[in-house]
Amino acid sequence: MKKRTGSIWAGILALTMALALMGCGGSSARGAGESTAPPEQEAAKTQEDKEADESKTEPSAAPEDGEGERGGNGSGVLVVYFSRTGEQYEVGVIEEGNTAIVAQMIGEAAGADLFEILPADDHYPETYEELTEVAKDEQRKKARPAYAGEVPDLTPYQTVFIGSPVWWGDWPMIMYSFFEDHAEDLAGKTLIPFSTHEGSGLAGFDRKLSSACPESTVGEGLAVRGYDAQNDREAVRSRVESWVLSMGF
Ligand SMILES: Cc1cc2nc3c(=O)[nH]c(=O)nc-3n(C[C@H](O)[C@H](O)[C@H](O)COP(=O)(O)O)c2cc1C
Repeated sequence: MKKRTGSIWAGILALTMALALMGCGGSSARGAGESTAPPEQEAAKTQEDKEADESKTEPSAAPEDGEGERGGNGSGVLVVYFSRTGEQYEVGVIEEGNTAIVAQMIGEAAGADLFEILPADDHYPETYEELTEVAKDEQRKKARPAYAGEVPDLTPYQTVFIGSPVWWGDWPMIMYSFFEDHAEDLAGKTLIPFSTHEGSGLAGFDRKLSSACPESTVGEGLAVRGYDAQNDREAVRSRVESWVLSMGF
């Protein structure tokens, strides 16, 4: 495992945990500490803890919509995702983002269209430590970074898978830009969150997505370790396929 200086995480983590504990209430399915656990802290978890984390994110709910429209273009299913390349935790410098890998797999399994959220002005550093600082600053400021490109017309989609890396125990702020811009368009649809992470699991993505898009139904999500997405693709593909299949796609 790649060793990191713990001081940045450790220093800012205390504040993050305090804020998260104040804001999370008691309804989190994953417990109060979970949403704030950065990779450094999570790395200290036992294998048993890690397996327990991941088992909590196994899907069980099927979307209640779809009306039998399945597969291929016109399937009524869209995958929206954000992902970074460059240097990432535990995997070194990557050319294909961890979340992008999972998004592709979901797209293939569900016959879905894909839309990647890209920053309008790519201000995110390529080095991991610098990226953590920029991300933390955005989180602290509740920034809403602009994204590039034309978001597809969401009208034909009944089900939208939405995924990103966990950043500091939360969705990256750019995802909230998307949620807030499109909460109305997403009303009445089923949203299914997925994350890649290095220990935090789904990090409350489902609950936070539900708050951001209160008129949507949020299905149970899937959490995949970024390391596995890069290095154990067939096992991840199999998990993704079972998850997607369990929802009737
Ligand atoms: C800014 C930043 C913050 C992160 N915070 C967390 C975290 O709180 N918990 C966690 O498990 N992993 C955390 N990670 C690790 C990423 O979630 C993980 O490497 C992910 O798979 C990266 O996906 P991507 O390649 O699609 O961007 C963080 C990584 C970065 C760059």
